[in-house]
Order: sequence, then structure tokens, then C-alpha cells
Amino acid sequence: MTETVVLLGGESEEREISIQSGRNIAEALKTAGIEADVYDWDPSRMQDFLGKGYRRVFIALHGGSGENGTVQAMLDLAGVAYTGVRMRAASICMDKLLSKTIVSKRTDVPVPGCVTLGVREAREMLSRADHDWREVIEAVGLPMIVKPARNGSSVGVTLVERASEIDGAVRAACLSDDEIVMFEQYIRGHELTVAMLNGKALGVCQIIPKNKFYDYDAKYNRDDTEYLTPSSLGEAFDRELCARAEKVACALDCMSGVVRIDFLADESLESYFLEVNTVPGMTSHSLVPKIARYAGYEFPELCRMILEMAH
Ligand SMILES: Nc1ncnc2c1ncn2[C@@H]1O[C@H](COP(=O)(O)OP(=O)(O)O)[C@@H](O)[C@H]1O
Ligand SMILES: [Mg+2]
Repeated sequence: MTETVVLLGGESEEREISIQSGRNIAEALKTAGIEADVYDWDPSRMQDFLGKGYRRVFIALHGGSGENGTVQAMLDLAGVAYTGVRMRAASICMDKLLSKTIVSKRTDVPVPGCVTLGVREAREMLSRADHDWREVIEAVGLPMIVKPARNGSSVGVTLVERASEIDGAVRAACLSDDEIVMFEQYIRGHELTVAMLNGKALGVCQIIPKNKFYDYDAKYNRDDTEYLTPSSLGEAFDRELCARAEKVACALDCMSGVVRIDFLADESLESYFLEVNTVPGMTSHSLVPKIARYAGYEFPELCRMILEMAH
């Protein structure tokens, strides 16, 4: 029987992208001479999945239980090897507030200033007729970004330019009862991402969205977003960004498999850590395969190397 499986699909909003990533990975493994099944992940059929007796899992699940540490915890308990970061790192990176806090405590990499409110406090604030956001504005300034700490795909993220827009932005960020609303200093300038393989930076991609920020529309609907590898900001800039990404990966224990670390750089080219994606897209349009190819790794070779690190 086949002992390797690519876990794809799942229950999150990114299900369709995950199916594309997973199929692409299975095909690449085949090219690299490794037979792998694909399995459409459904949390309610956990017993069925474990009953198949796979010994190595290539996790290609984006968002939800496949990226927040839950699937990783299940595989840990079942004693099955899996690709990518461990359960604890996955769950920390799913939380932008927690991961930022750890990076700012453990490294010298800058993070955007921010204040936070639990959803309950935020809703209570909105319900008070005489509320205002003066303290928040004093702390982070305007414009600011209002976003949920635990969601992805830019869902619930708003660029706020005027105080009068904060109420609406907070409502949009209150996606669930256990969310945390982040009010973040707005970094105007450049959007960048670094692809990492086993804790080493492969290279940088600069993202140039035609919208005001890299929102859901720019990520999934528009085809006019520009992607540049290497960035247009110069070799020294990319080198420094890669060094910062390696510090972040080490601080957050993202040292196995591929992860993608997002940064923003301001107009003076100071770069700020934004978030880690622990199961980044691996479709034919995704950024990790593109950066890896620039670094000299064809996709089948990249997938083989990731699988080899499964433990
Ligand atoms: N502090 C910020 N300053 C400027 N733009 C931001 C900031 N935070 C988020 N953004 C914009 O919103 C996008 C999505 O935010 P991000 O924190 O990466 O959440 P997601 O998990 O939804 O991708 C970013 O890619 C960026 O374009
Ligand atoms: Mg992001």
C-alpha cells in the first residue's frame, strides 16, 4: 500500500485553493518518483482517515484545522509523521497578536505598533452611545489598519483613514466570539513576502496590488496584482529582509518544511514583520514555488525535500 498521503481540501474558506495546492503537490511528488495518495480532509471522518494507516502526511490544508495546529495534534497523537511546522508553532502563527508579541520579545525585527480589544469589549464599546476611539487613535495614529487576530485571506481587514470609519471596521473585524480586534499602525510603502525552506530564506517576492492594500479581491479575484522576484528594492534590501525572516522563523520555531513570512516596508525601507503563513499556497500561481524556482529548486525537487523533513 501507499504509505504517503497529501492531505487537502478541508473545511476552511481556503478549501478550493487547498485542493489545487494538494493536487499540484501529489503530481510533483510523482515526478520526483514518490507515489502519494490524496485525501480530502473532513474533521468528522478522522477515524476513517487514521484507519487508512498512512505513515507520512504532506499537509496541504490552508486555514482552519489544517493550519491552526489541530490536524498536527491529531497526527502527533496517532504517531504519524507530517510535513511543516509542529502543532505549537502552527497554533501560535495562526494568532497574529501572539506571533507578533513573540517576535518583538525574542528578536530585534520591528513589528507595527498596535493595541487590541477582545470581541466582547469591542462590542460593548460599540453599544455605548457616547463611545469614542480617542485612546486608540492616540496610540496608533491615523490611518490605521483594523483586523481580526485569527483570520486570514484579508477577511475583516479594513484600512481606516478617518475616526468616523472605526465603528464599521470594528464590526467587520468581530468575526467570531473568540476573536481579538487589532488596531495596527498603518505601514505605507511596500508589501513583501519571504519563502523559507527548513528555516533558511529562499528569496523575496514583492507584491504590488492595484488596490489600496492586498485585500481579498487582490488575492483571489483580480489578475492585475504584480509579483516581483527578487524585489525592486535592491539586493541589499532583500538580503536584510531574508536575514530578518530567518530570525522570525527561529523565534517562532518554524524550522521545518516551507513557510511564508509576510513583511511590510515603509517609505524609508524599514521592514516590519506582519505574519507567518505556515501552510502557504502551492498552486501553479503561488508565491512559494515561484520564489523557490528563482532559488534554483524546481517544484518536484522542492516537494521531495519538504516530504523528506516530515517527522
Ligand atoms: N499594519 C499594516 N499596515 C499596512 N497594511 C497592512 C497592515 N496590516 C495588514 N495590512 C494589509 O492587509 C493585508 C492583510 O493583512 P494580514 O495581516 O496579512 O492578514 P491576512 O491573514 O488576512 O493576510 C496585508 O497583506 C496588507 O496589505
Ligand atoms: Mg497576510
